[in-house]
Amino acid sequence: MNFGIDRISFHTSHYYVDLKTIAAARSVDPDKYYQGIGQEKMAIPSPDEDVVTLGASAAYPLMKDGELDEVELLLFATESGIDHSKAAGIYVHGLLDMAPRCRTLELKQACYSGTAGIQLAIGFVARNPTKKALVIASDVARYELGSPGEATQGCGAVAILISANPRLMAIDPECGYYTEDVMDFWRPNYRSEALVDGKYSTMVYIHALIESWKQYAEESGRALTDFDRFCYHIPFSKMAEKAHQKLCRKFKVDLDKQQLHRLLAESLRYSRVVGNCYAGSMYVGLTSLLDTAEEDLAGKRVGLYSYGSGCVGEFFSGVVQPGYRDALYVDQHRNLLENRSELTYQQYEDIFNYVVPTDGGEYVFPQYKTGPFRFSGISQHKREYESLVD
Ligand code: HMG
Repeated sequence: MNFGIDRISFHTSHYYVDLKTIAAARSVDPDKYYQGIGQEKMAIPSPDEDVVTLGASAAYPLMKDGELDEVELLLFATESGIDHSKAAGIYVHGLLDMAPRCRTLELKQACYSGTAGIQLAIGFVARNPTKKALVIASDVARYELGSPGEATQGCGAVAILISANPRLMAIDPECGYYTEDVMDFWRPNYRSEALVDGKYSTMVYIHALIESWKQYAEESGRALTDFDRFCYHIPFSKMAEKAHQKLCRKFKVDLDKQQLHRLLAESLRYSRVVGNCYAGSMYVGLTSLLDTAEEDLAGKRVGLYSYGSGCVGEFFSGVVQPGYRDALYVDQHRNLLENRSELTYQQYEDIFNYVVPTDGGEYVFPQYKTGPFRFSGISQHKREYESLVD
């Protein structure tokens, strides 16, 4: 019996800013962003969106399709948590009217926590093959205005249904992981923007990749040439490309530009126009690969590298299942990305500078264009959410 990813649904904000707009405001050549880091647009959450509404919106199509009925484990992975105590997943559980017979908790380890959720969920369904698990990876990536990280912001959520005999991807049992206590990127509890040692973070990302790959290769006996595609954690698309080039160089595998393009390009399409989604980023990449690859990927093995600053890296893999295309949400994702609204620089800065009030007062928030759910206000220190669908 196989275990792995049965359905995958992605959601991001209705609003985005073009990196040409940021380049003009910072007097930077736009090619630094478009070519140098490989990013074109970044998704910006409206003031009435947060990780709960993004996550619930990502899972909403699954709910509509009746896919959540057998879910008894809900893992919510985020580094943009909204409460020190209550798991954001419980709000999602309520908004999606899920059955009370469910374990729900929140996971944190920077961008790695989505993968931790997947591996824990696979353990759960392996032990309970008639049950399912829902992993939601949802984040808002924020760096200071004018900082080098600014162009690598973004937001989005991915809802991943884990089951026995999955329709999309069977996850291989072998994996390689690596932990090291480093300060490449972090966010103290009193800050809403991350702190980052940018260049150092790119080096740690690659070091953790090499170490994770060594263990994976040892356990699986596979070589880098045994994969049809790769999906990397995507803080910006050039990072994924550089990581794969460095991995191949380190282990003496020939890789020209054409091969690199064939192995990675489809997985980078969505991230290029959405930006970093932290915990969800690699899964945005996987969604992009499955949705947009013209070649039939059934039976093909995909190498997956997840990285979370601080740091934990994990290399693992999966095999795309026959008939996978029937279980995708391609049209929904295409509509979402094609029908967004572009922000002017001033609108971007206004939204960036808006912060959720923390004075304990009563607030009702204006309505922007969101998904099926919105963060409508605060009353008696409690966040209030509104469903915009029946
Ligand atoms: P920077 O230092 O301003 O950029 O920011 P740069 O000067 O290194 O330029 C970037 C690239 O653009 C360079 O290419 C330039 O040559 C090129 P490279 O040398 O790297 O090949 N360039 C141009 N290309 C074409 N035309 C031009 C032009 N000008 C320059 N005119 C940095 C880069 C990554 C430091 C910054 O974006 C940053 O701090 N980002 C945030 C941190 C980050 O994303 N780190 C990635 C690894 S850590 C990670 O992935 C974890 C994370 O997701 C968090 C988590 O785990 O929770 C971040």
